[in-house]
Amino acid sequence: MAIIGSDINEAKRILIEGGLVAIPTETVYGLAGNGLDESSLSKIFKVKNRPTFNPLILHLGRMDQVKELALETPTPLLNLMEHFWPGPLTVLLKKSTIVPYLVTAGSEKVALRMPNHPLSLQLLKSLEFPLAAPSANPFTYISPTLPEHVEKMLGDKIEYILDGGPCSAGLESTIVGMDEGKVKIYRYGALSVEDIQSIIKSEVLLPKESDSIQAPGQLKLHYAPHTPTLLFSRDTLLIKEFQNRHIGIINFAEAYPGPSQLEQRILSESRNLKEAAAKLYQIMHEMDQMGLDLILIERLPDTDLGKTMNDRLERASSK
Ligand code: TXA
Ligand code: MG
Repeated sequence: MAIIGSDINEAKRILIEGGLVAIPTETVYGLAGNGLDESSLSKIFKVKNRPTFNPLILHLGRMDQVKELALETPTPLLNLMEHFWPGPLTVLLKKSTIVPYLVTAGSEKVALRMPNHPLSLQLLKSLEFPLAAPSANPFTYISPTLPEHVEKMLGDKIEYILDGGPCSAGLESTIVGMDEGKVKIYRYGALSVEDIQSIIKSEVLLPKESDSIQAPGQLKLHYAPHTPTLLFSRDTLLIKEFQNRHIGIINFAEAYPGPSQLEQRILSESRNLKEAAAKLYQIMHEMDQMGLDLILIERLPDTDLGKTMNDRLERASSK
């Protein structure tokens, strides 16, 4: 079983020897390995059971690493990096020759991010290489936001989990790149469209369903619990339809008026989308352990981080 601890030197030793370590970030826990070493990269795909057509994000701790890993940085993306790094922003840039095609799934573009978590930043700054790190969950399952989630899902496959406590944002990073001269959001994430638009004053393109293959995080079934999951709207849900079944409900701000045997959770009584985001995956993990017949999750307001959460919930319920 993996050891959960906060020893950066131990994490560093394992990574230098080509092993994998789960690392905390402000978004979700990542499954990290040497991003320039093919054998470490292969281990990541194997442990996650992830198909190699799905590329990996490289995490770095120093701005000067961008020049080593990317051939150019278009001004709008540089502005975003300067503003939001370290933070939940991933940028797609033309890769340099040192980046293996295994990282990019054959693409000429590489995804780079400087995460904002003190432990991981310290670890990244002390390493000579970037860390490839997908979310530390089996392919298509919910991302982990606690070290215990990683232990439960991957504990028998990795040596060490660096314990950084609960992830503060609780949703994956926002992925941006250039598309025909414009900034495009490829995956909704912990930075909202409004956050990106506050720096980029011109038009910002949004992800499209039809992007799916080359687009990040856009696989239809993704972020999904094992328990059947449905997205609902308060005005149309008829709980009577689900009589005699053991149901869990994840509400935005208030409990659903219904029979008391329903398992209910509330994301944010004050309707705060940041608070809801920080709790969402944690509650989904918890409810998925309860042996329920069905999990119902309330659709969130379609603004700000509500957009990101609705995007994830649509994928989680697409089985
Ligand atoms: O917040 C996050 O981004 C977390 C933490 C650990 O940093 N990582 C994460 O990684 O969510 P992952 O692998 O679960 O999701 C990354 C997404 C994938 O859907 C992948 O398709 C996309 O990023 N991606 C990575 N490299 C890409 C590339 N070169 N071109 C297009 N999409 C890319
Ligand atoms: Mg993932």
